[in-house]
Amino acid sequence: MGQYFESDPAVKSQIQAVELVLPDGSIELTTDRGVFSADRVDGGTKLLLLDGPEPTPGDQHLLDVGCGYGPIACTLARRNPQATVWAIDVNGRARDLCQANAEARGLDNIRVHAPEDVPADLMVDRIWSNPPIRVGKAVLHEILQQWLARLSPAGSAHLVVQKHLGADSLHRWLETEGWAVDRRASRKAFRLLDVTRP
Ligand SMILES: C[S@@+](CC[C@H](N)C(=O)[O-])C[C@H]1O[C@@H](n2cnc3c(N)ncnc32)[C@H](O)[C@@H]1O
Repeated sequence: MGQYFESDPAVKSQIQAVELVLPDGSIELTTDRGVFSADRVDGGTKLLLLDGPEPTPGDQHLLDVGCGYGPIACTLARRNPQATVWAIDVNGRARDLCQANAEARGLDNIRVHAPEDVPADLMVDRIWSNPPIRVGKAVLHEILQQWLARLSPAGSAHLVVQKHLGADSLHRWLETEGWAVDRRASRKAFRLLDVTRP
């Protein structure tokens, strides 16, 4: 069994559907083996979508770092029809699923890309992410440094991280990197962190 962050998962495809149930709307999403949390919507992702901030009507560009099959990106696109949602992932199978899920829901404001294909000058208002902790600390830090740098001056990032996978050490590291970090929620096994420019 490979890792969910492989670019081209070798594991045989086995398509299935999962339900994402939220108070403001539920959707069915197609998933597959070889992508993160294929059997059910991850508890951290659900917490982020339940407890994350309300949409800001003026937002133009939103970014989901590590979109997987698209539960965050599709929800952001539905809640922010005026905005473009950039959904990025290194896993090609995940990108295909995210694209298919967006199309099946008629969400034409999602752009699904490999990270290297995002326009170099794109700045974003919000980042929402259940980041890939399992890639290891060094790679995770690189990913976060790369994409937090794309936040507009008044922008913010909203990250969900499992407590036992280092949420508090990530919080401290972000502060040492000069970001302002606020713990928005701590529920069950997860922490939800808001990150802004100081
Ligand atoms: C914890 S999963 C979250 C997936 C999805 N957002 C969800 O909530 O179900 C993290 C995702 O990050 C992706 N990922 C790993 N390394 C990445 C990188 N360097 N850039 C972008 N995405 C990456 C993984 O392939 C995986 O899909």
